[in-house]
Amino acid sequence: MKKILFVCLGNICRSPLAEALFRAKVDSQNLSDNFYIDSCGTNGFHNGERADDRTRKNASTHGIEVDSISRQLTLGDLMDFDLIVTMASDVHFQVLNFCRTQEQKDKIHLFRELDPDAPNSNIPDPWYGGDEGFENVFQIIDKNADLWVNYLNAASNE
Ligand code: 4NP
Repeated sequence: MKKILFVCLGNICRSPLAEALFRAKVDSQNLSDNFYIDSCGTNGFHNGERADDRTRKNASTHGIEVDSISRQLTLGDLMDFDLIVTMASDVHFQVLNFCRTQEQKDKIHLFRELDPDAPNSNIPDPWYGGDEGFENVFQIIDKNADLWVNYLNAASNE
């Protein structure tokens, strides 16, 4: 089983959606036994809170339930997870700085590193914007979650 952690700043908008979409995709392919999926934030400002109402409402219009509870990244996560996927470059460098070993650093990947349309670009933070920002983020995360599922399935079949 591969353990994957999605990380953003607050763990209430981007990474909870990445977690929910990735899980929905592996469930629909009957591959849920192959993955343990979680998400967290680099800051703990929203610890214990459900995801942002706007994220949950937008996802529900696409039939996706976002039910994670916000929590902050821990040193244990860097040891426990096999793959740590960051939603934007600021988060990416925060997580890299938090690492204690090269082995931990090697687990950290940008979410859009597989995206042929905008390689290594950030998932915009929809927190300050309007509803269209949440739909835009949904579309980008949905596409990139497909890319990750396909990539990881291909890698596990090698
Ligand atoms: P997220 O968005 O990182 O996608 O969950 C944010 C939500 C809240 C804050 C920052 C980013 N905040 O600073 O409160």
